[in-house]
Amino acid sequence: MALNMTTGKEYWNNEAKQWKNSHGLGERAENARSFIRDEVGKFLPTDNNDLILNLGAGNDFQSLNLWNPERIISLDYAHKMLDEDCIFKPVEADVRDALPILDSSVGMVCSFFLMRYLSHEQRVALLTESDRLLKPGGYVLFIDVPDNSHFLQVEKFDPSTLVDAVSSLGMELKRKVSTLRKVGRYVETGFGGWHEGGSYVIGSLVAMKKFR
Ligand SMILES: C[S@@+](CC[C@H](N)C(=O)[O-])C[C@H]1O[C@@H](n2cnc3c(N)ncnc32)[C@H](O)[C@@H]1O
Repeated sequence: MALNMTTGKEYWNNEAKQWKNSHGLGERAENARSFIRDEVGKFLPTDNNDLILNLGAGNDFQSLNLWNPERIISLDYAHKMLDEDCIFKPVEADVRDALPILDSSVGMVCSFFLMRYLSHEQRVALLTESDRLLKPGGYVLFIDVPDNSHFLQVEKFDPSTLVDAVSSLGMELKRKVSTLRKVGRYVETGFGGWHEGGSYVIGSLVAMKKFR
């Protein structure tokens, strides 16, 4: 595959089968997934009927396993990443565009391992779009690993760079962390290097839409 000729969408459609067979990053990412599940668990909606929107979700079945699968929307621009056995509601869309979701209709918006494929401006626009479709009191969670060396990476994800945008939108900053996770060895995932020097940083930004 000529990488420089391939758009991100084509790339992910081509890689969907392998991604599925490896269960995303599988056991090798368990350390990251357990961090994600801990973060999600702290900010789940209080209403059991609320929808959770997972952006750039692929066929991730692991991160949101604390929530009713019927109330989860998996949004992705690569339709093959949205597996045909998907137990969630699949929506094919590009997060760089306006999202086909109603205003104030979702209890939580989240993304895992997506931020690094977006520029700072695109992240700010996505935060703005998330604020639009969140119910008051709902949370947005953006989590990613900034040390990843994937060839499609646009910019490292540093949660602190979104703090000004959170405040301009009138959202309440709940969490901004970058923690070092020690894995102990380098992991070649087939999707780019996973971490550097036997460890990797995982960053999490959480903001709440205020009641206005
Ligand atoms: C590294 S995978 C992560 C998948 C999943 N979130 C997980 O944790 O296993 C990145 C995903 O983001 C999707 N993606 C990348 N850029 C996107 C965009 N602009 N709009 C929608 N989806 C996008 C890809 O198709 C892919 O499924």
